[in-house]
Amino acid sequence: QVAAASGHTVVLVDQSEEILKKSTKGIEESLKRVTKKKFADKPEAGAEFIEKTLKNLTTSTDAVAVVHSTDLVIEAIVENQEIKNELFKRLDKFAPEHTIFASNTSSLQITQLANSTTRQDRFGGLHFFNPVPMMKLVEVIKTPMTSQKTFESLVDFSKAVGKSPVSCKDTPGFIVNRLLVPYMMEAVRLFERGDASKEDIDVAMKLGAGYPMGPFELLDYVGLDTSKYIIDGWHSLEPNNPLFAPSPLLNKLVQEKKLGKKTGEGFYKY
Ligand code: 3HC
Repeated sequence: QVAAASGHTVVLVDQSEEILKKSTKGIEESLKRVTKKKFADKPEAGAEFIEKTLKNLTTSTDAVAVVHSTDLVIEAIVENQEIKNELFKRLDKFAPEHTIFASNTSSLQITQLANSTTRQDRFGGLHFFNPVPMMKLVEVIKTPMTSQKTFESLVDFSKAVGKSPVSCKDTPGFIVNRLLVPYMMEAVRLFERGDASKEDIDVAMKLGAGYPMGPFELLDYVGLDTSKYIIDGWHSLEPNNPLFAPSPLLNKLVQEKKLGKKTGEGFYKY
């Protein structure tokens, strides 16, 4: 959405036409929200902006078939190392020489993903934040193998889509999630110990620390499954780090398919 809105030609790839339809509808709705603000007094300019953006966007269920005309691939599939590696390995065979590969992974090592390809110098991390149309940040990750030219291209692209890039080494969670995920897990542990209600913890962090959402609202917004993937991955890397300890309550909710806002229930009901 943000790439298409800033004039880039985008092919959105997913597994089925049904998912693509749902995603396109989501983009249309989000564009309307953006436009309502951006073009508050100029509805015609707003309608033109939406039309132009959607013209830049096509969809496909066949990544291999469209990658030959792509300068930049941004992968944002399931947070699973093997599945991501398999995709990158396949795309590497069909993408042009110059094409840069980037992953939007929240928690996996970019270096390990890059190693599934033969273009380690043209591989980096581009980590966006929910909701992407609103959040100004992008973390740009340079592995020891990422060339300076690739890194600069990723920084330039981030700026071209209207974001503010920061850079970080290829360490677990980069900057934001390394701080945010342990904070959210600490909130869950505080609640699990019965020290405060989740409602009071949320109010406290909003009114006492100025956060736009409390930790439980944010967990539901990000998705409890995604949060669990992240913490489980880090726990397996550093089993003795108490900040990365799994939470019985989070695990129970995920097992019950209460994944947050997207399923209608997580810590809260929607
Ligand atoms: N698309 C377009 N516009 C949107 C939007 C979206 N998806 N979501 C919100 N907006 C805009 C709209 O203009 C909306 O106005 P509208 O309701 O009239 O359309 C406006 O934001 C205000 O939204 P709300 O009234 O719903 O609520 P807020 O004022 O609280 O703003 C928020 C919403 C920007 C999401 C704010 O609550 C916020 O900043 N929350 C924290 C988000 C955060 O921490 N994100 C990072 C998560 S971590 C992550 O993503 C990393 C990953 O790896 C796990």
